[in-house]
Amino acid sequence: MLKMLDKAKELIEEVKAFNATTKDEVEAFRIKYLGKKGVLNELFAEFKNVENHLKKDFGQALNTLKNTAENKVKELKEALENAQEQKGMYGDLTRPAEPIELGSRHPISLVRNKIIDVFSRIGFTVSEGPEIEDDWHNFTALNLPEYHPARDMQDTFFIEKNPDILLRTHTSSVQMRYMETHKPPIRTISPGRVFRNEDISARAHCIFHQVEGLYIDTDVSFADLKQTLLYFTKEMFGKSKIRLRPSYFPFTEPSAEVDIYWGLETETDYRITKGTGWLEIMGCGMVDPNVLRNANIDPEVYSGYAFGMGIERIAMLLYQIPDIRMFYENDVRFLEQFKSVL
Ligand code: DAH
Repeated sequence: MLKMLDKAKELIEEVKAFNATTKDEVEAFRIKYLGKKGVLNELFAEFKNVENHLKKDFGQALNTLKNTAENKVKELKEALENAQEQKGMYGDLTRPAEPIELGSRHPISLVRNKIIDVFSRIGFTVSEGPEIEDDWHNFTALNLPEYHPARDMQDTFFIEKNPDILLRTHTSSVQMRYMETHKPPIRTISPGRVFRNEDISARAHCIFHQVEGLYIDTDVSFADLKQTLLYFTKEMFGKSKIRLRPSYFPFTEPSAEVDIYWGLETETDYRITKGTGWLEIMGCGMVDPNVLRNANIDPEVYSGYAFGMGIERIAMLLYQIPDIRMFYENDVRFLEQFKSVL
């Protein structure tokens, strides 16, 4: 029966060496040694078979085993509880993180941010104005007096008549607001939403976005405007060939439309440039002296240039988006494609 005694001693060592990292493991251990059908009860049942002269040693060994096992369970339970407390509000920092669904910026935001980035590098600030405007800032002050035929260029959503309150038809209105509150030199771009009472189609929408630019200082010339445009098209599109086509806008004189040379390398190039290689991207010109006067800026001292472009149009070019309506449908299959852009 010496064997039984050896077995008990072996078990004591086993219990001493045991370690656990979870409460379940501790519980399994407890059941294995101290449970009703556990190791200890089995050994106690053997007691009567042990030869008399060994009974004392065997009994002592069983008691040691029982105490060791009980202490072990207590010790491990406490250790695990302490560890839990220490982790506190942060939980288990060693656990792998939950997979996070990455969102993506809207392509309109991406393009707007890029435009802001390009112009802020050459000293332009960002300014904003209200979407609900009065007639003065949207039209009259911009050299579009009442009954001026050019008002028909932009079909307006009116909110109130006499005095007219309307949804701004362009971000040029922010030019006026900015000049009212800032003295030259002025260098600002104004991104924002604009509204026009137009039929919705693949190429036009009644709500879209523009960025307006305004630069006013002494001795500003058309050459300054052209250099700025060249810098912009290079940074924005990686294209440095532009042409200025004479045009008409009431708030600038002279006025021009800016085309960039997109190239005719692919079939898409052919399609989007209608076989010419050229693409119109914005309107611009030298700020009309009347506009400066309306903002109490002396046109004899100051001159400046302005420009305006549509964000949707540029986004459609950059990302080859065939239909302007896709920007507003918020279809995740569309939006998800911009996860890694810019
Ligand atoms: N406001 C014009 C439009 O909505 C765009 C524009 C053209 C703005 C020429 C300008 C400019 O500042 O000089 O079509």
